[in-house]
Amino acid sequence: MKVRKAIIPAAGLGTRVLPASKSVPKEMLNIVDKPAIQYIVEEAAASGIEDILIITNRGKGAIEDHFDHSFELETQLAKNPAKAALYESVKKCSEIANIYFIRQKETKGLAHAILAGKSFVGNEPCAVLYGDDVIINYENPVTAQMCRLYEKYGKGIVGVKAVPEELIPLYCTLDVSPVEGEERLMNCYKIIEKPKPEQIMSPYSILGRVILPPEAFGMIEEGINNTPADKEFLLTDIFTDLGKNGNLFAYDFDGKRYDMGNKLGIMKANCEIALSHPEIGAAFGEYLKELVKTF
Ligand code: UTP
Repeated sequence: MKVRKAIIPAAGLGTRVLPASKSVPKEMLNIVDKPAIQYIVEEAAASGIEDILIITNRGKGAIEDHFDHSFELETQLAKNPAKAALYESVKKCSEIANIYFIRQKETKGLAHAILAGKSFVGNEPCAVLYGDDVIINYENPVTAQMCRLYEKYGKGIVGVKAVPEELIPLYCTLDVSPVEGEERLMNCYKIIEKPKPEQIMSPYSILGRVILPPEAFGMIEEGINNTPADKEFLLTDIFTDLGKNGNLFAYDFDGKRYDMGNKLGIMKANCEIALSHPEIGAAFGEYLKELVKTF
């Protein structure tokens, strides 16, 4: 079945980037000249996704405004031929894809946020692109890489990357084995969230992109209903169930990931994307060369 829909959870509190994220959603933090979430929406659209649901929360209205028409601004820019490129860039924001919004009414974690998209997705597979993970591969977007694999095999897929050993306890660890004849694709049998060092099974952790099979929403709903109110049901719990039954792949995606949920990730994204920016790349490169001489 073709993957036509995507969910972008963007309802988290963003505590690691406070106070910047106090009144500006962290997903709206800038990378050179676009907010992080625009890179993510553009990746989904370039991957053939037709409908995108963004899960928001109180105080995240700026995300809706960004993907809406800005009538007054567009009218002013349209009058000035010297601003034609700017006009196009502003107008494009509302035309990238069909974008829908729903609120997660309580901030109860990623699985709970994704469940808000149950009716939107219906009985279809869907791509999930975490709202603070920007992954760059303009020629072959990572979501497209993963959708192709879903369409071939019909199994859930978690996007993974090898992570330095000391960081794995902050993420998760996966028990995997290579799939013959498929570069980068692995069978995934088991996942442990935030493992102790002695529990680490491979260098891979789940980062930023997953493809959920249609049955995932029922599994999340059941999991949340059976979890005590003071505990969080984790999305990795459904991956564990899918893996146990041989229905899960891990895919070592081909793309450069930037974690926009922490300060260092934001600076790396801005620095590297600025260096390849057509307007400021060369000048910024010169500036950096001079700057490093002073250290
Ligand atoms: P994170 O755990 O990285 O986001 O979730 P967070 O909770 O905002 O981060 P900190 O720890 O407070 O800094 C990954 C993605 O899932 C979304 C976030 O917005 C982020 O894009 N999310 C997280 C939700 O939509 N709802 C939640 O309840 C939690």
